[in-house]
Amino acid sequence: DLKGFIFDLDGVIAGTAQYHGQAWHQLADELGVTWTEELANGLKGVSRMDSLEMILKAGGKENDYTDEQKVAYATKKNDNYLSLIKQLTPADVFPGIKEFLDDLLANGYQISLASASKNAPTILEHLQLASYFTKVVDPATLKEGKPDPEIYTRGAEILGLDPANCAGVEDAAAGVASINGAGETSIGIGTRSELAEADVLFGDTNELTLANIKAQMDK
Ligand code: BG6
Ligand code: MG
Repeated sequence: DLKGFIFDLDGVIAGTAQYHGQAWHQLADELGVTWTEELANGLKGVSRMDSLEMILKAGGKENDYTDEQKVAYATKKNDNYLSLIKQLTPADVFPGIKEFLDDLLANGYQISLASASKNAPTILEHLQLASYFTKVVDPATLKEGKPDPEIYTRGAEILGLDPANCAGVEDAAAGVASINGAGETSIGIGTRSELAEADVLFGDTNELTLANIKAQMDK
């Protein structure tokens, strides 16, 4: 039985995945790396430095820069990203998310956050959702990023729950792999072609309800 829900942030709670994409695209252009949809999808959910490595690798430039230069590029991307999210307001919360969170709490479920983003606390403040997420995995304390299971394992741990009693909600293939690896139920928001391994799948956040989840799990 499900007792807890572990949420990704970017692309699940709000449309910030798009801003990450925009900022990485701009950096890829500057580095002379061709931006493709495949690269864009592969970066979803992936940590800041791992994302930069993936971009450099896609362009065959993984050996062209020192660690110091890489940190400078990642910082530049983040500064660009921060300027894009400055204007976020509660109106940017995806449809149905607030209702789902309220419903979960009203029904005694526990919730935690498993975002790879170091900007997650800031974004939750902008969206006025910080009070829902008193339990947040700090990505700075992780050894491995998504698709490794570590972050979703920790998401269950901080709730004091067995992973088997938890579901994770994700928009990224790397995130779904992390949830599945942790032994939790994976709920994907997106398309079957992108999120092939999701246990439960919705095309849109407004379909994310306890009744709809139960209906797909019972099938
Ligand atoms: C994830 C995003 O939530 O966080 C990725 O899906 C992003 O796109 C990652 O790279 C790390 O975020 P940040 O804000 O710490 O650079
Ligand atoms: Mg995401």
